[in-house]
Amino acid sequence: MGKRLVVLASGHGSNAQALFDRDDLGGDVAAVVADVAEARVLHRAEAAGIEALCVDRHAYGDRSEWEAALVEAVAHRTPDLVILAGFMRILSGAFVRRWPTLNVHPSLLPSFPGAHAVEDALAHGVKLTGVTVHFVVEEVDAGPIVMQEAVGVEPDDTPETLHNRLKAVEHRLLPAAVGLFCADRLDVVGRNVRIKP
Ligand code: GAR
Repeated sequence: MGKRLVVLASGHGSNAQALFDRDDLGGDVAAVVADVAEARVLHRAEAAGIEALCVDRHAYGDRSEWEAALVEAVAHRTPDLVILAGFMRILSGAFVRRWPTLNVHPSLLPSFPGAHAVEDALAHGVKLTGVTVHFVVEEVDAGPIVMQEAVGVEPDDTPETLHNRLKAVEHRLLPAAVGLFCADRLDVVGRNVRIKP
């Protein structure tokens, strides 16, 4: 049976769109949950006929109250896998232990974790950066790595030009990793993720 997927996202939603556009993932996106009411990803989900809802961080004073509401919304959709597709908030250990959760990140982790990976890579002057898809653990951007692909930095790159090339890779890597999860082909052994044949 196909897996049930829930996507969490905060913004533009191009990675979520890359998942909506595939019908060979071995799973279906049951819902998209945003933490920002204006997130364009909500419109993309509606256009794709996918349930879209917002658990607005700004509507809750307390972080733990917001996360409790998020957990309730996600639990109600009974996911087999949660996917962070440009979700710009940190989730508690309790959340990430409850559901297997994948994240896509625009650097070759463990280099440049955090919310400004593209700017940080340019500021550091690296010649090579890339994309990582990893399982989420409590420590930010530190979970077992499923897939990585390198992207060269050009001398005249701006954060925008580099991020556009990284996103083109993300749009391939994230669906590929989700497809492997849905096919039960990912085996996590400590920090190592083995891809079963
Ligand atoms: C993506 O590049 C994703 O890797 C990044 O946000 C972007 C969202 O784009 N995520 C992070 O930086 C998480 N730390 P999108 O909204 O067009 O999918």
